This record gives sequence, structure tokens and C-alpha cells, in this order.
Amino acid sequence: MQEPLDLRVLLSEEEIAARVEAMGRQISADYEGEELLLVVVLRGAAIFAADLCRHISTKSVLDFISVSSYGLATSTSGVVRFLKDLEESVEGRHVLIVEDIVDTGLTLTYLLENIRSRKPKSLRSCTLLDKPSRRRVSIVPDYLGFTIDDLFVVGYGLDFEQYYRNLPNICVHLD
Ligand code: IMP
Ligand code: MG
Repeated sequence: MQEPLDLRVLLSEEEIAARVEAMGRQISADYEGEELLLVVVLRGAAIFAADLCRHISTKSVLDFISVSSYGLATSTSGVVRFLKDLEESVEGRHVLIVEDIVDTGLTLTYLLENIRSRKPKSLRSCTLLDKPSRRRVSIVPDYLGFTIDDLFVVGYGLDFEQYYRNLPNICVHLD
């Protein structure tokens, strides 16, 4: 696919695919013999999760949650709004939160606290991208795809004002 001129490829389809496969293998090894509840954070993590879950050999259930901290702007407000809750019960289950990107860390911190209060058997987080330079709360994801600089990226599920999620690679948005 031809990218618009204001986008520059940061991570190619091939690089993403290789890393996602490796993450899936690691998760499969870590949870071998256990059942896993994958909590996918909409909308950004949907495409990552779709690829990741197909590399997870552990018996898994997929569920989706949606929170918002951004509106249409690219700077965080620090406010996390709950848009859609899980359908599955978390209690007594091994839960893995699947995120697209950890930026300030506010969203993942909120989700971890919220889900921990529902008494899972274990709780970990998995993110494709991490921007540690922008952290406002100290949080380290358990599984991490790529650490990136303080750049605004789109594609492979990540959006700018809801656009570009369908790009097959991850691009820097130069606007
Ligand atoms: P945090 O609460 O600041 O860590 O924000 C995490 C959420 O912000 C992610 O799940 C994304 O939806 C969004 N976000 C942060 N950085 C980017 C980016 O570079 N591109 C697209 N969305 C981003
Ligand atoms: Mg998100």
C-alpha cells in the first residue's frame, strides 16, 4: 500500500510480524497448560491482538474492553473514560491485557487497577509499542514488542483522529 506523503515507515509489516510471532511464542511458553483470558483494549489493539492470538497455543478466551483518554487530540488529558466493559468474569482467571501502545502509562495503570480489583488469578500486560520517555506513572509492561522514541505513530491499529488504523505497517505521523 502507498503511504500518504506525511507518513514515514518506522516498522515494516515484516518486522512487526516477526516480533508478534516471537511474543506469541513467549506467551505460549509462559502460560503452558494454563487457560488465558486475553483482554484486548479497543480500538487500537484489535489488529495486534488478532495477529498475536494466532501465535498463542495456550487455550485462550478473547474479550474486549474500551476506555478513552484522548478524544480527538494527540495529547493526553489524563482522564480515562470507560466506554465498554468486559463480558467475561475475571475472577480466578489468568488475565493478559493486550494494548497497542503505552505512552504516559495512565491508561494501562487504570486498567490494571480496575481488573486487579476483580480478583484474577494472575494479571499481566502486553503491549506492541512502548514510549517510555513520555511516562507520567511508572509502569513496565510484562511483554513488549518495540520501544520507540517520542513520536506519534499510526497504522497496524493505531490511529490519528481515527484514520490510518488499516495501514499494514507502523508509520510516524509527521504532521
Ligand atoms: P497513555 O494512557 O498515555 O499511556 O495512552 C495510551 C493510549 O494512547 C494508547 O492506547 C493509544 O490509544 C493512544 N496513543 C498514545 N500514543 C499514541 C501514538 O503515538 N499513536 C496513536 N495512539 C497513541
Ligand atoms: Mg489505545
